Amino acid sequence: MGEVRREHWATKIGLILAMAGNAVGLGNFIRFPAKAAAYGGGAYLIPYFLALVLLGIPIMFVEWTLGRHGGLHGHGHLAPMMYIVSKKKLSPKSAATFAIIGGAVAFVTGVMITGYYTNIIGWMGYYSVASLTGQFSGLKTADDAGAFFVNFLTNPALSLTAWLISLFIMISIVSRGVRRGIEIAAKIMMPTLFIEGIILVVLSLTLGAPIKPEWSSLRGFEWLWTPKLEKLSNPATFIEGAGQIFFTLSIGIAGIIPNYASYLRREEDLPLSALTTTSLNEFAEVVMGASIAIPLAYAFGGPDFIALVEAGKISGFGVAISALPPLFGRLGAVGAIGGFLWFSLLWFAGVTSAIALINVLITIFVEDFKLNRVRGALIAFIIIFITGVFVNIEAAMKTQQLTDYLDLADFYAGSLLLLVVALFEVVAALWLWGVDDSYEELHRGAYMTVPKWYWKYVTGIISPLYLLILLGWFIYTA
Ligand code: PHE
Repeated sequence: MGEVRREHWATKIGLILAMAGNAVGLGNFIRFPAKAAAYGGGAYLIPYFLALVLLGIPIMFVEWTLGRHGGLHGHGHLAPMMYIVSKKKLSPKSAATFAIIGGAVAFVTGVMITGYYTNIIGWMGYYSVASLTGQFSGLKTADDAGAFFVNFLTNPALSLTAWLISLFIMISIVSRGVRRGIEIAAKIMMPTLFIEGIILVVLSLTLGAPIKPEWSSLRGFEWLWTPKLEKLSNPATFIEGAGQIFFTLSIGIAGIIPNYASYLRREEDLPLSALTTTSLNEFAEVVMGASIAIPLAYAFGGPDFIALVEAGKISGFGVAISALPPLFGRLGAVGAIGGFLWFSLLWFAGVTSAIALINVLITIFVEDFKLNRVRGALIAFIIIFITGVFVNIEAAMKTQQLTDYLDLADFYAGSLLLLVVALFEVVAALWLWGVDDSYEELHRGAYMTVPKWYWKYVTGIISPLYLLILLGWFIYTA
């Protein structure tokens, strides 16, 4: 258990950008649009926003509250934190079991996601260079683009190097610490990402129809948001709505409590800051994320291609690498720059999210094993290398675009385990610590007030019930 005093964020804007950086990731630009396409288009927004209000925002508040409380009291890690607050109602032994299970699931989830997530970041880095150097110009079809990807993956000199370079950059950032590393990176990368995103949205919505007159990008945009209400009768739509909220907000994964929230100052306005970062994330997801990949994919492949996305046969990642490169490849210099913007946006989005997960790992070695940050970084690197290399080897051995491990990890870690961790956290904060104590901590130093009824009923009762229903459905259909 670390009795180490944690650093604090240097500036408010740095804190907000780092927290938004943690949330805004690959999920906003490739996972969300594909989920929306597959689960009802405009109708998907119903389960999605329902989950935002009933689960996302409450759990965000819970994590910020527990995290700051832990950071200020020298127990920034998730498990010791849950232990401390649970002891109020449970015997020390039950509290320990409860905390260790919750903490372990969160840890495993984090490591699983880091392995595949950092690989994809490396690939995106390579693709942004490939676009600038005109390598997309020879790609005509989605199959060409698929072959390009397979060539890249089966050449370890390229794919492994791309991953390792990005991993090295991310680990170097984190090893410089919170203020000098993470906060500075967020201040540079997040504004860059938003500017790139806006340029891409404009490009995507004004592109017209470069390939076939009836395949205009605007039509793709319209297609995406046309509500397909019949999808709402499928419970999977609700699971996927909630799963995406968890994934995109980076909650339920020990990415906030033992981590960014533990560096908060005592007087920070938690409700306001948490809502600000959530809003930035939703802007990047629902406004920007939905306006790039799908409209462009439609302009590239028309209704036939989109039907495959709708049927779940092409994932968000598949759209990103099989439709967009050949489209950009046909657009000459504009396309080369567009492709660079698209893949570097994904790179920035990924990096600012992954460094949060990497910081959790490094902090454990620094605080619990008393290593210095550089040594801690080295060990974190080894762990990520071991978990991530599977993605690489497996991807290289297969000729399919998505690897089995990646799919599996994304499904279990990216949708299921997040719900389990969240359940532990809500129970710890509201049931074991107590509605009043947690409410008071949430509002320490705050101007903004969260209505007490929302805390008591929505966070305390509806959200755990909702989680239980979703988990029950998961188990029932597994
Ligand atoms: N929120 C990130 C995204 O949308 C994913 C992520 C989850 C990153 C948890 C870190 C921790 O892509």
